Amino acid sequence: MADKLIIFDTTLRDGEQSPGASMTRDEKLRIARQLERLRVDVIEAGFAASSNGDFEAVKSIANAIKDATICSLSRANDRDISRAAEALKGANSGRIHTFIATSALHMEKKLRMTPDQVFEQAKQSVRFARNLVADVEFSPEDGYRSDMDFLCKILEAVIEEGATTINVPDTVGYAVPELYGQFIKTLRERIPNSDKAIWSVHCHNDLGMAVANSLAGVKLGGARQVECTINGLGERAGNCSLEEIVMAVKTRKDYFGLEMNIDPIHILAASRMVSQTTGFVVQPNKAVVGANAFAHASGIHQDGVLKARDTYEIMRAEDVGWSANKIVLGKLSGRNAFKQRLQELGVVLESESELNAAFTRFKELADRKSEIFDEDILALVSEESVTQDKEQYAFVSLSQHSETGERPSAAIVFKVSGKEVHGKSDGNGPVDASLKAIESIVESGAEMVLYSVNAISGSTESQGEVTVRLQNSGRVVNGVGSDPDIIVASAKAYLSALNKLQSKADRVAAQG
Ligand code: KIV
Ligand code: ZN
Repeated sequence: MADKLIIFDTTLRDGEQSPGASMTRDEKLRIARQLERLRVDVIEAGFAASSNGDFEAVKSIANAIKDATICSLSRANDRDISRAAEALKGANSGRIHTFIATSALHMEKKLRMTPDQVFEQAKQSVRFARNLVADVEFSPEDGYRSDMDFLCKILEAVIEEGATTINVPDTVGYAVPELYGQFIKTLRERIPNSDKAIWSVHCHNDLGMAVANSLAGVKLGGARQVECTINGLGERAGNCSLEEIVMAVKTRKDYFGLEMNIDPIHILAASRMVSQTTGFVVQPNKAVVGANAFAHASGIHQDGVLKARDTYEIMRAEDVGWSANKIVLGKLSGRNAFKQRLQELGVVLESESELNAAFTRFKELADRKSEIFDEDILALVSEESVTQDKEQYAFVSLSQHSETGERPSAAIVFKVSGKEVHGKSDGNGPVDASLKAIESIVESGAEMVLYSVNAISGSTESQGEVTVRLQNSGRVVNGVGSDPDIIVASAKAYLSALNKLQSKADRVAAQG
């Protein structure tokens, strides 16, 4: 039997640290359910001590998800660790992931601690955590830039205290594959009790090498856990991407010789869900999940694929959840057909009322758009989950006027805490006028730092998906809206971003 590679997903923790990617408890729970369907081994659900919201998110995921280990991040102190243990109480299998920085730079400049103090704190924290749960992961933050002798000393000590997984982060994405692989190998060879723990890799993507470094950590270093995120979401250039690492290990099983629990058919739905929830759009040429990942434009390639698909394809699009871009449903489709299609797409709505609300929205959409594609359905249910939250602002209707040579104007109706309000404005264009009409009522003072429009299923007949990123008082949020009318989609995205600005409490930064 081949060795097993543990897939540790940290979309809901490290991914969420990306500015603008913060998620509500319900959004996190929904993504956690998708990760469970994908059969990831460990879900890092958040950083319980960072905020009440994150504590509640970890707790609900621990209570709801039974087929994966649920993990909470925690700094190396008793308060954070107790809070993590408390949030994980309901888990079938719970893990505390505690970390402290070990590079000279981080210890001196950030922690203002001596190596001896860091050593003692790491040991003490792992001991404390092991008294609360049986599964404890330890990470030396900025591990790859740490002194090898010091790292060996501290890692040997925490394994002695009972750490069951040792994770070696390349926190700033500085590693290159061969050296990182060798680094893990050296640690495992030099630390006398290294066989008592599972070794894990955690690579950031600043030089675009997170996946390559992680694979080298596995192949050359002997690591048997990879930490990764859906779409490679994460701070700066992001983390190692789950879909890429999984498909690399699976497609090149001849080389890696490793088994995984993952069921890749759910990859695309997970990617769409994370992208639509966070507003981080997937680039078209992104491996595995990008719109072009399986598209053959050149005549030579098309000809080859038609004759024998493996001439140019190393993976099957359907294996990762791409179905042909077929018309799946329309105006005449009933509730059962809708429900069945959701099941085929791997989407499970939590309650009958959520299903009914999604079906009503589907019918509304089908009235306006004769061909409903899988992408439309995924956008619709993910927007549905957003609007399920008890939100302050909700879109009702919009009318706008634009004509060559005239200044565009818009009039919008939306709800503020359930009560309808009317706003009007002119603007440089119809989108500008519509968003100014919202601001004429809300007066948020927020600055827009990103506005992007994407066609969900690739043609002008498709729905427009708009992402709006707002910044206010040091907080950054993304809002997403979709509609066949891109001006309406823009207004929905703007209101969704305003809702997120309202609901986000300040958090403790994980690497702060
Ligand atoms: O990148 C990093 O160092 C981390 C740790 C907190 C594990 O995310
Ligand atoms: Zn990280």
